[in-house]
Amino acid sequence: MGIERSTKRVVDVKSEPEDVEEQVFEKSLRPTSFAEYIGQERLKTNLKLAIDAVKKRDDGTTLDHVLLYGPPGLGKTTMANVIAHELNANLKITSGPAIERAGDLASILTNLQDGDVLFIDEIHRLRRVVEEILYSAMEDYKLDIVIGKGPAARSVRLDLPHFTVIGATTRTGSLAGPLRDRFGIIHRLEYYQLPEIQQIVARTAEILGKKIEPEATELLATRCRLTPRIANRLVKRVRDYADVNGDGIIDVKLARDALNLMEIDEFGLDPADRNMLELMIENYGDRPVGLSTIAALTGDEATTIEEYYEPYLLQLGLLERTPKGRVVTVKAREHLKNLKEKK
Ligand SMILES: Nc1ncnc2c1ncn2[C@@H]1O[C@H](COP(=O)(O)OP(=O)(O)OP(=O)(O)O)[C@@H](O)[C@H]1O
Ligand SMILES: [Mg+2]
Repeated sequence: MGIERSTKRVVDVKSEPEDVEEQVFEKSLRPTSFAEYIGQERLKTNLKLAIDAVKKRDDGTTLDHVLLYGPPGLGKTTMANVIAHELNANLKITSGPAIERAGDLASILTNLQDGDVLFIDEIHRLRRVVEEILYSAMEDYKLDIVIGKGPAARSVRLDLPHFTVIGATTRTGSLAGPLRDRFGIIHRLEYYQLPEIQQIVARTAEILGKKIEPEATELLATRCRLTPRIANRLVKRVRDYADVNGDGIIDVKLARDALNLMEIDEFGLDPADRNMLELMIENYGDRPVGLSTIAALTGDEATTIEEYYEPYLLQLGLLERTPKGRVVTVKAREHLKNLKEKK
């Protein structure tokens, strides 16, 4: 069941790709300052204010811990970099799954310096024992550790430098309450506005040293799920296409041809998205379908569907979440029907 997907999905928002080339590409495009970071205006305003206050006080206090959440590819990691840069602070990067034991966290924390920023990606995946150590570290800058074993064991409390945690997660739902409570600034990243995505497309083309016509910029912006990561990837693929099939300039015809080749439709859906919706319609019509059933239909993991496919489909109104499961909407059905008729 499900279609073969040996080639990588262009619209795959899955994060920090295993692919080294892709990592280098993303890094090369990552904005480093507020001025360069397009969109998310509310977040930027709040953060700027908080950062200015820290700088003005200049009394050793640090920025409140920041929790960034929202769908993948919207700029959480990028924002962590920007914050550290704007604070003129060192950025230490780790992730929930990377910190295996309490001792690992203890060593990270004791190696920090005053004012450092500690970025914890996928913070919802921290292990419980590690998380508990983080509580007092974040709250009082104290590290409680147990030295020795058995009856001789004793607990000591160490002072830590004043640091700022930036946590990122695609799933706030799975973050423990006590951990959440320790963040002074909690912000959800939203899908970008169309004009913002256009700016990102234009910026990426410029960094890649490609001429892109405004109409082509507009077209690409409508196809990238309002997500910077996908915008970047589309521009790169279209650039490659332009280098092979054109004179190197990206005009609207060329962009359209490249999108057709990639089978990305007007909504930015790719064959895998459409396949999922079609399977749901074929098997369940307009009845709700449980997440695990959808996973069985497409052959994906339930979490993949929940974290990567679904958020954008919900945002677009192609899927609806009900207590009984996901429902394919009339809008989605019409979209798929129109596509078939065009063929
Ligand atoms: N506001 C922005 N302006 C310009 N480019 C951006 C912006 N936000 C993100 N990008 C680009 O999109 C790419 C993906 O962003 P980033 O890695 O920060 O997403 P993320 O939210 O951390 O995703 P994940 O949840 O998968 O970790 C970056 O390489 C960056 O080039
Ligand atoms: Mg990230």
